Amino acid sequence: MSNPGVGLARQTEIYLAGVRGRRPAIPFDHRKLERRAKTRLSPEAYAYIAGGAGVERTMAANRAAFDRWRIVPRVLRDVSDRDLSVELLGRPRPTPFLLAPIGVLELAHQDADVAVARAAAAEGVPMIFSNQASRPMEECAAAMGDASRWFQLYWSTSDDLVASFVARAEACACDALVVTLDTKMLGWRSRDLDFAHLPFATGLGIAQYTSDPVFRGLVDPSTVDRSGRPTPAAVRALVRATRAYPGSFRANLRSGAGVAAVRKVMEIYSRPSLTWDDFAWLRKRTTLPIVLKGILHPDDARLAVEHGLDALVVSNHGGRQVDGAIASLDALPGVVEAVGGRIPILLDSGIRGGADAFKALALGATAVLLGRPYVYGLALRGEEGVRDVIRNLVADFDLTMALSGCRVVGDIRPECLQLAR
Ligand SMILES: Cc1cc2nc3c(=O)[nH]c(=O)nc-3n(C[C@H](O)[C@H](O)[C@H](O)COP(=O)(O)O)c2cc1C
Repeated sequence: MSNPGVGLARQTEIYLAGVRGRRPAIPFDHRKLERRAKTRLSPEAYAYIAGGAGVERTMAANRAAFDRWRIVPRVLRDVSDRDLSVELLGRPRPTPFLLAPIGVLELAHQDADVAVARAAAAEGVPMIFSNQASRPMEECAAAMGDASRWFQLYWSTSDDLVASFVARAEACACDALVVTLDTKMLGWRSRDLDFAHLPFATGLGIAQYTSDPVFRGLVDPSTVDRSGRPTPAAVRALVRATRAYPGSFRANLRSGAGVAAVRKVMEIYSRPSLTWDDFAWLRKRTTLPIVLKGILHPDDARLAVEHGLDALVVSNHGGRQVDGAIASLDALPGVVEAVGGRIPILLDSGIRGGADAFKALALGATAVLLGRPYVYGLALRGEEGVRDVIRNLVADFDLTMALSGCRVVGDIRPECLQLAR
């Protein structure tokens, strides 16, 4: 996308609205954005979205890693006409941004994934549908027209379910399959543990499952234990789980199908025994590019190339899995060196502004995934909020490029950065 000024256009829009006395509903500074979103979320929802593993050292490390790198701007270069486009998996993309797969978006807004899908399509940024979505991928795909979408898979213990998810992703015209590797089980998430709150246990974030015929065939209500006295919280969870299951509420309540579905999701969502050899099976079942998410070690990056995988996402899941893990940005240079340009490398975990994206690209990423900030935009203003977050990010990136002396994304190179002393 050749653009003389996405950044300038966004600035002008904001400042002109200011002349008429209007301030942006979505603050740009990520700390302010998070604080404002917190006021619109239940304490449990905020904990689930904002929280990380353990004492959240990895989350802190993600931000600190970006802060250690400094951009060294160059001057007197013609940057009047910037081009933010990149090529990713054989296709041109208008910007180097994608929306990270984020589960349980109904915690933030009732329109959940569908609002995000509309926003992503409107802003030309691919959305990665989460395996733990609140709305089925078909609904999101229908809301996106021809816009680019990918599907993120948690590799279930049921081969049939994996095959069904993959077939649905292909039918939804997804451009790639992202297999998340860092969540073979949930990390020790202290904020959620303090609230004793796991969304999936109450029927949230299970729409890809309940909309799946193979999954429904695995649900066996006769296994539900109905003994014990119900508490008010248990009744609320029961109602929610029953609502999450397709068909008549009454019939599901009587049969216990909703509760059985929730239990089944918890039992089969992930396969802790998964190894590199399993990917031959997946490769036979899909023609889509397979992207591995959660790579941090150069040797794993090398193995991914050797096993014929198509791209990597350097990610520590936003610090939600291993407390004290290496920051994604710190892992990036080693992975880039190991891969040696053979497949594209994406990065997430800590992207909060244009300068962060610039630094990741300078260190060798082809594109970056935006995570928590768009969920905060969703919490504040639904689809419009997500659009504003994306627009602000792209504008900031465009201006960072221009002011650093880069006209095209290819100009963003390691020489643009220096480690802080
Ligand atoms: C609330 C929440 C839910 C998430 N759900 C998923 C998911 O379903 N699948 C997945 O692969 N990653 C999931 N992630 C991780 C994101 O894809 C991404 O790696 C992470 O948000 C990046 O960190 P950041 O948001 O701090 O930048 C989730 C992250 C958050 C915050």
